[in-house]
Amino acid sequence: MKKREDVAFASKIGAIAAAAGSAVGLGNIWRFPSQAAEGGGGLFVIFYLVCLCFFGVPLFISELMVGRASKQDASRCFQVLAPKTAWHWVGVIAVLVSIIVLGYYVVVCGWTLYYFWQSLTGALNHITDFQGAFNDFQANIPLQMILMVLFSILTAAIVLGGVSHGIEASCKILMPLLFLLLIGLAIRALTLPGASEGFVYLMKPDFTKLNGSVLLGALAQTFFSMSLGMGAMLTYGAYCADDMNLPKSSMTVALVNALVAVLASLMIFPSAFALAAPGENMAEILKEGGPGLLFVTVPKFMLNLPGAMIWSSAFFLLVSLAALTSTISLMEVSTATLYKKFGLSRFVSTMIILVIVIALGALCTYSPSAFIMSDYISAKILMPVGGFLVSIFVGWRMDRNLVKVQFTNGGTLPYGGGLLKAFSFILRYVAPAVIVVIFIYGFI
Ligand code: PHE
Repeated sequence: MKKREDVAFASKIGAIAAAAGSAVGLGNIWRFPSQAAEGGGGLFVIFYLVCLCFFGVPLFISELMVGRASKQDASRCFQVLAPKTAWHWVGVIAVLVSIIVLGYYVVVCGWTLYYFWQSLTGALNHITDFQGAFNDFQANIPLQMILMVLFSILTAAIVLGGVSHGIEASCKILMPLLFLLLIGLAIRALTLPGASEGFVYLMKPDFTKLNGSVLLGALAQTFFSMSLGMGAMLTYGAYCADDMNLPKSSMTVALVNALVAVLASLMIFPSAFALAAPGENMAEILKEGGPGLLFVTVPKFMLNLPGAMIWSSAFFLLVSLAALTSTISLMEVSTATLYKKFGLSRFVSTMIILVIVIALGALCTYSPSAFIMSDYISAKILMPVGGFLVSIFVGWRMDRNLVKVQFTNGGTLPYGGGLLKAFSFILRYVAPAVIVVIFIYGFI
């Protein structure tokens, strides 16, 4: 019984919840709004949604397919489908990238824990200068270290429990909860006096901002938020049942993912404008604000609500938990590799990865440049490169018949005609070409 739980999701809805749990995380609530602020508001949102439909969904399906068809960990799935080729390096690199990303991701997860704790104890209520408080916290390296280690241990504890119980069960409850709370908060933010300016800023595309780096930013955000190019969906694909509808499930995940990102922004932008001091140029502050948005603007907004403590505790708890469902999927990638490829026990595998992640997390806590570099190299370089290679693999190299079998579940789904053709066309031509163009354009 235990063995079975370790290698597969128990239900289809649980598998979707786990995939959505991986996708929805800090990328939606922390990274998206600050990227949108940098990328000209509405313009970035439009590019992100286009990238999500054209590349996010097909690549998400592709990774799940490769995982499910091979039933292997990320480091070996390409090797099984294309034996004795260099393709297996794509999987090996994905595993390495997943560890790098986890190393800086847990640092921000630690921040969310801190703000949860501050909300719960009521300490947040007494802050008058949120930016100053955030800066002080950033300067407190030991505290950040403790929180980062705590979060990493929490993640490892769930990964240790195996696939179906911890991952599936928690995601099934947490995802709907997060969603409901965000809707409530977004409505509240939008009804604040003065909020409309923020709404317009988020929704109205400013085409004068159009340049390569906004495009690259939107593409990078798509990869990051759909958990692509890091082996997460390769790994989860191997745990999915053969009769799971991959195209439909992937579309559901993309929809949930986009909705959470937009809702989070609908909460942050209008409240930022509504709560701006007279004479403050909010558009400029938001652009500068970057990662601080979630920890400066949001608590400020919460403080203005009746029952501030309850709202902000619930919010930061759910952000932490959304992040947790993502760190679990990231840690599972390398743990599964040690576990399946090297035959180590799940316990030993998890412990090894835990130690590595804590070491990387410590580096990113001490050195802000290591933190920024990790985000930049992984999201803007390695993930798009990984996505490019996956699309070439499924588009050109993977056995045609196998692609069809995976896409249509052996002919039982009515997707064998136009939909499969469109899918193949995107993977063969559109995605590789666009990724290359945006990639080059983003750097010049
Ligand atoms: N998609 C997650 C987020 O948006 C991050 C993540 C990336 C998780 C890659 C797993 C793998 O926060």
